[in-house]
Amino acid sequence: DERTFVMAKPDAVQRGLIGEIVSRLEGKGLKLVAGKFMRIDEELAHEHYGEHEDKPFFDGLVEFITSGPVFAMVWEGDDATRQVRRLMGATDAREAAPGTIRGDLGNDLGHNLIHGSDHEDEGANEREIDLFFDDEELLDWDRDASTWVYE
Ligand code: GTP
Ligand code: MG
Repeated sequence: DERTFVMAKPDAVQRGLIGEIVSRLEGKGLKLVAGKFMRIDEELAHEHYGEHEDKPFFDGLVEFITSGPVFAMVWEGDDATRQVRRLMGATDAREAAPGTIRGDLGNDLGHNLIHGSDHEDEGANEREIDLFFDDEELLDWDRDASTWVYE
């Protein structure tokens, strides 16, 4: 099974939406294998969002993501990276489809509640998991529901 990195951003934490986000991923049948309530420092923010370093919104993005605690997670399942992106919805929460996390709960481009590894960027999931978690923090366990979720 595939593992992917997910994070409830500072706006989701402040708005009390950690549980809602976790619920949606659990409900889809994905399996939580790691979770950490933490603060992202400047250095980690630059590494995590390195691909956007030259963009005009980069400084604002770093300021936002370091502005308060985040809940970092690793989720596992068939095609997990793409499945999480589908549940998240479009980057701009104002345009995200109803039924998605951003579409239902967000209303802004910058404050878009959740991060998930980019499924179009090969290896982004593994890279981000390594950046945020040590190997021993990833739990190896069987979720009984999996046998009812997947054929
Ligand atoms: P992440 O999961 O946060 O990586 O979002 P994403 O993969 O859907 O979008 P992307 O990686 O392209 O951009 C990273 C973050 O930068 C987004 O979540 C937005 O909050 C922000 N962002 C992206 N494009 C713009 C933009 O054009 N203007 C502004 N102000 N912010 C942007
Ligand atoms: Mg991205």
